[in-house]
This record gives sequence, C-alpha cells and structure tokens, in this order.
Amino acid sequence: CGYLLTTPFSKWKGCGLMLCVVDCVPVSWSWLRIPGVLQRLGFTYFVLSLLQTFWVQKEIPLTAVSCSDVVLYWPQWLVIILLETLWLCLTFLMPVPNCPTGYLGAGGIGDNGLYPNCTGGAAGYIDRWMFGDNMYRFPTCKEMYHTTQPFDPEGVLGTINSIVMGFLGMQVSWTIFCSSILSKCTRDGGFIPVNKNLWSLSYVMCMGCFSFLLLAGIYLVTDMKGWWAGQPFIYPGMNSIFVYVGHSLLGFYFPFSWEMRFQESHWEWLFQSLWGTALWVLIAYLLYRKKFFLKI
Ligand SMILES: *[C@@H]1O[C@H](CO)[C@@H](O)[C@H](O)[C@H]1NC(C)=O
Repeated sequence: CGYLLTTPFSKWKGCGLMLCVVDCVPVSWSWLRIPGVLQRLGFTYFVLSLLQTFWVQKEIPLTAVSCSDVVLYWPQWLVIILLETLWLCLTFLMPVPNCPTGYLGAGGIGDNGLYPNCTGGAAGYIDRWMFGDNMYRFPTCKEMYHTTQPFDPEGVLGTINSIVMGFLGMQVSWTIFCSSILSKCTRDGGFIPVNKNLWSLSYVMCMGCFSFLLLAGIYLVTDMKGWWAGQPFIYPGMNSIFVYVGHSLLGFYFPFSWEMRFQESHWEWLFQSLWGTALWVLIAYLLYRKKFFLKI
C-alpha cells in the first residue's frame, strides 16, 4: 500500500488513481501521479460517448464504405478536426521557455545534449506546468537519454490524440496512408515522427489502422466464418483489467522478470517479454476455467 502511494517514483505506472486512493490511507498527496493509462482510457471514452450521444446516427447502413463513414459522421469529424488542430498548434507553435518551438525529442543527452530540460517539448511543458511534482518520473526515455525532467506518457496533450485515435476506431483504414505520409515511412523521421510517448498524430494513425485491420481480420475468421474461437487471446481478453493491473504491480518481480545479464542484446529482453506474457496468459486461462472475470 505504501508502495502504491509512491507511484510517481516507482516504476508502477498502470494502477490508475482508483487503486491508490481506495486501497490506501493517503499519507501524502503531493507525489500522487494524476494522469495514467486507465484515467486516459476513461476520459477518452467519456468524450467519444458524448460525441456519439449528441449526434446519434439512427441508422447505420451495413454496407457503409469509407466515404459514407465520413459523410455520416460529419459533425463528429468537425469536432475531431478542431481537436486535432488544437494538438497541432500547441505541439508545433506554442513557445516553451528555453526550448526550441515544436521540439519533439526526449531531452537529456538526446540531440547531442543541446536541450537537456526539454523532454517532450510542449506536451511535457504543459504537464509540468499543470501537475508540478505530481508527475510520472520513469518515462521510457529516462534510461536511454538520461533525462532528468519528469514526463508523463499519458499526459494532457496526448489525451487529445487518444480521443482522435478512439474516433478512428469507429472509422476506416485509410489512416495508414496518412501515417505513411506523416512519418515518410521512416522509423523516427518525417513531418511528424511516430512517437508513442507523445501519442503523435502519425502514431495514432498507424495504430488505428493496424487495430482496424486486425479487428476486421479476426472478425472475419471468428465471427463470420467461425474457424477460430480466439484462443489463447480470449483468456486475457476476458480479464484484461485483471491482467493489466496484475502486470503493473508484479511485472517487475520474479518470476515475471529478472535482472538481465545481457542488457545490450535484444534476445533476453524478447525472451523475458514473451515469458511474462505467456505466464499472464496462463493465469488468465486458469481464471477463465474457474469462471472468474473482473470487470469495471
Ligand atoms: C536544467 O535544469 C537543471 C535543474 O533542474 C539546471 O540545473 C540546469 O542548469 C538546466 N539546464 C539547462 C541547459 O537549462
């Protein structure tokens, strides 16, 4: 419990605000991490459900193709385009003290150490301004770029794009083309590089596209043709919150992970990730057999 309260200082980032507040006597609020993965999911679905409620599409034709999707949802598209314009303007035009405008890098020793305190550019600046000490301190860039600034990968600015991403889930797969153009099909370049920590526009387009294609493929194979019932993914899928929170709490301990001996090579990382995933799938399978399902 005491550990949970130190969320911003520990590597446990996924427990959400609820766990920390409900389970514990709040000893100190000052270090509590306000944003988080579950918070972001909740807020994203909240906004999208408002959009959907205000502009109810009474009859969705089953034969809808890509263009009619856009036409049918035009008021929602308008809101989404306005939101995305806000993200683009803030990200690329907002002046950040002592940092280049439109900076998207990690700070620290990145960019030859020119902008050590600029981690996350405008997104990082907005979060540090809003939350102060209540920030996540173990962003993925810390290890590689030796950053010193707190940075939240589920921060305020990125939430705009996660709303856009959720909306794309209701749309079509043309997003891959946008993503390819924005990132110029490069790993970390292009007009807007693919960046998960910033939830950049090219990242949400790319993820939206692949999720859509995957969903379409699985829908065909499982629901329409009935060739496959979704094992083993159905087991963790039926207990996704349980597995997610469990991993957040225990993922850094044996037997899910261990201190790696070959940090420089990728194979031990890969093996550890696959091992941890397999263990959680097994746990989820046992829970499935016992008909134990945890839902929020
Ligand atoms: C970065 O911030 C630290 C304090 O957090 C300060 O000591 C240092 O001078 C800053 N560096 C630059 C280049 O602004």
